[in-house]
Amino acid sequence: MPGALDVTGIPGVSGVAVRSVRLADAGPDGEAFLDPAERGRAAQLRDASARRDFLAGRVALRGFAAGILGVGPGNLTAASVCPDCGTDQDHGRPGYVIGGAPAGLALSLSRCRGWAVVAAGPAAVAGAAIGIDLEHRLGVRFDGFDDVALTSAERRLLGGLAPERRDHFRTRAWARKEALLKASGTGLRVNPASVEAFARPADGTVLLDLDTTALGLPEGFAAALAVLPVR
Ligand SMILES: CC(C)(COP(=O)(O)OP(=O)(O)OC[C@H]1O[C@@H](n2cnc3c(N)ncnc32)[C@H](O)[C@@H]1OP(=O)(O)O)[C@@H](O)C(=O)NCCC(=O)NCCS
Repeated sequence: MPGALDVTGIPGVSGVAVRSVRLADAGPDGEAFLDPAERGRAAQLRDASARRDFLAGRVALRGFAAGILGVGPGNLTAASVCPDCGTDQDHGRPGYVIGGAPAGLALSLSRCRGWAVVAAGPAAVAGAAIGIDLEHRLGVRFDGFDDVALTSAERRLLGGLAPERRDHFRTRAWARKEALLKASGTGLRVNPASVEAFARPADGTVLLDLDTTALGLPEGFAAALAVLPVR
């Protein structure tokens, strides 16, 4: 069953809420509340299942944010921020405005193999900078993953693990890297093989593995959350 987690008691992330959503459950009912730009982006997706997943993820994120803010989903206008294209985009770091003013939530979303995880924190706690990522071990099982995704220190750590533990390490590493890259707002404009997934970030960023069982996710997933310090 999909679940919800309140990440509390961890310095820097108190008050951050995380939820998992089965995309098939975030069905078309909520699509009526999506903005024209969101529907326009969906229309560009040729693959029907990718289109459904995109829409369901946006429905889930909007419903999650609206629930925290205590407003109806139709009161929110999506206003994502892309480092290349600017604010009020249909892509990039997610966000919403209400009546033209920022909704005051830091948000992040990740979809993977029929599931999504969403995270939200009050902007005063999380700044504008929160990142969540969900990955499945089947997603890291391809030749060359270690070269494109891991740092040399991570490849050494991996080499010291029993073979049956390596895919879990890769999955965790990837989720942690993408969570960091989403929190920083760059995404994969930064080479993931240059990002240390397991070193303690020097700038005070909190980076943690999420409990996928508590989140109600099926076996094989890893999920990570990164929260940049308020500056
Ligand atoms: C961020 C990124 C790594 C996520 O890709 P992914 O692993 O395939 O997908 P996930 O499901 O985990 O995450 C998707 C969500 O990440 C978020 N996201 C996208 N870009 C982001 C960024 N720069 N910063 C923070 N979050 C971002 C969005 O909420 C997106 O959801 P959406 O598809 O509904 O808009 C990838 O989209 C990326 O690197 N983007 C930057 C490059 C790019 O998109 N360039 C083209 C636009 S100019």
